[in-house]
Amino acid sequence: MNSPFGMKSWRLFLALAAVFFAFALPARGDGRIVVKVPQADRELLQKDMVRFMEQQHALIDALAARDMKRVETLARSARPPLARIRALASGKPLPLEGRLPQIKGDEALFLRMRKNLPPPFLNMLLGMRETWAKIENDASQGKDAEQALKHMSALQGHCVACHKLYRTEDR
Ligand code: HEC
Repeated sequence: MNSPFGMKSWRLFLALAAVFFAFALPARGDGRIVVKVPQADRELLQKDMVRFMEQQHALIDALAARDMKRVETLARSARPPLARIRALASGKPLPLEGRLPQIKGDEALFLRMRKNLPPPFLNMLLGMRETWAKIENDASQGKDAEQALKHMSALQGHCVACHKLYRTEDR
């Protein structure tokens, strides 16, 4: 029973395997980083996301028709206060022009988002919003659809990057 595969080695192996599975598997999940947020905030985030997708669809539709007036209107209506997300990502207090009066307790939400969402997450959100603003600017200056399509590609790059990296769970 002194062989390397004797009882003792097997016990040690099983104990190590148990420790490995106890720690490694739950932490690994599907490979994405888990961000925990309160359930109501998570629902709000999901609603926003579906809206992003709708807005993106509408933008692509307008671009396909080369209707830059519609692109401008859509990008403008899709744009939330850029000041809000800039303040969120840079750690500054919520500025007046960044408030969302339609959301009850929007300042508390702003502070919870800062607490719960990691900085790279906030930066990707900011990148997405800034790209949206570029599309609006370009369209308002009469630039053509080609430029806007490049921005759209960058915009979707942010969606993809964040979804590959993060998922949410209820806190
Ligand atoms: C900074 C990160 C981030 C960015 C940028 C982002 N998302 Fe998301 N999105 C998430 C997270 C986190 C979830 C929740 C996924 C989960 O918990 O599994 C989500 C969920 C979604 C969902 C599913 C909503 C539901 O009903 O469950 C859609 C659709 C979506 N995103 C679309 C988009 C689109 C389109 C864009 C770009 C225009 C985008 N997202 C940009 C982080 C992001």
